[in-house]
Amino acid sequence: MKKTIVAMPGDGIGKTVLPESVKVLDAVGFDAEYIQADIGWDFWCKEGNALPQRTIDLLEKHKLGLFGAITSKPKDAASKELDPSLKDKGYVYFSPIVGLRQHFNLDICIRPCQSFKGNPLNFIRRTNSSFEEPIVNAVIFRQNTEGLYAGVEWTNPPKVVRDALETHPKMKAFKHVPSEDMAISTRIVSRDGCRRIIREAFEYAKKFGYTNVTVCEKPNVLRETSGMMYSEARIIAKEYPGIQLWDTNIDAQMMWLTKNPEIYGVLVAENMFGDIISDGFAGLVGGLGFACSANIGKDVAVFEPTHGSAPKYQELNPSIVNPIAMILSACMMLDHIGENEKADKIRKAIAKVIEEGKVKTYDMMKLKGGPDVFKYGACTTQEMTEEIIKNL
Ligand code: NAI
Ligand code: MG
Repeated sequence: MKKTIVAMPGDGIGKTVLPESVKVLDAVGFDAEYIQADIGWDFWCKEGNALPQRTIDLLEKHKLGLFGAITSKPKDAASKELDPSLKDKGYVYFSPIVGLRQHFNLDICIRPCQSFKGNPLNFIRRTNSSFEEPIVNAVIFRQNTEGLYAGVEWTNPPKVVRDALETHPKMKAFKHVPSEDMAISTRIVSRDGCRRIIREAFEYAKKFGYTNVTVCEKPNVLRETSGMMYSEARIIAKEYPGIQLWDTNIDAQMMWLTKNPEIYGVLVAENMFGDIISDGFAGLVGGLGFACSANIGKDVAVFEPTHGSAPKYQELNPSIVNPIAMILSACMMLDHIGENEKADKIRKAIAKVIEEGKVKTYDMMKLKGGPDVFKYGACTTQEMTEEIIKNL
């Protein structure tokens, strides 16, 4: 049956890479209709809402979304760019992708970081006499709706908030700080949120034959939130006897992944820690041009590259950016709806293009991005897509 996909290009290079992924989906024979939906900076400036209700309605109806990237700016910069007719009317900018995750409770974020053979950007390690290139095959499960990104925060907290906090003995240290000089971001996790992400991580490990799941938190310091993640993980792990439960502290994990990334399989963490580890692992397998992700809820799912809108490249024509992260995200959408064969076919074609090494975007050549990358042999965004399609 023909699927309907809500296509949300967003800002900057999101507008460039999303159509490239659709070309590949068409070429592999995925029968779908794409409905363009509004999201991002333009809609904040014009309407005071980066995530218009009509986009939410489309996703509610069609359940599947492809998302490019959005531009987010700090509070003051956002207010400045708002249309003059909307100024001082109480509009507050929030990130529309974070908004989407929360609105549809897309609490399971999956970020696979797997090296492609022959990618010149792959992690290499010096040994005594030469170099080795371990194969990285890590999949990060990031709790996508709670924790530090839940958005429960204040500068100049209201008195009731302050009073409530003062009931905690550790607040004594801040007694002398005037509220207007105080900023608070909370890290709230729920037991159900912890259980859902941990269970998904174990289920994935079981399905794809991974032998370890690593909980990446900091329970020695964040005793309550990280503590809950870890204690729930220990309970759930008992149901998966073939899979070892490892735990690392987030800071140590960032060190370990630069030493022996190949030993890690599935990793699971709270929102912000998951964001950090997944960028860390992405750096070992080619960087943001290769990092794909899925945001999955009970009902709705949205697939997006990990990268942002890279505004400095958006005006370049022809475009230089790597479409592979977006195309791999489209593959995750195919996996999600049971079109695994088509997804595998695309991934194989990408693997072949990378291994042949004839066609490379600027990032794969370790060039500094700019209009002159073509003279060194870099391909355009569109040429990369064409080469992938040729190899399908
Ligand atoms: P970014 O991901 O847009 O760019 C960082 C660097 O990564 C770029 O300079 C570029 O060298 C490289 N890069 C990114 N995508 C690439 C691609 N497809 N091919 C080749 N190289 C690529 O992150 P940055 O510069 O921190 O943020 C720019 C804007 O994007 C900000 O407004 C930020 O808020 C937003 N952002 C949005 C995200 C989203 O939509 N989910 C995620 C991250 C940032
Ligand atoms: Mg990130």
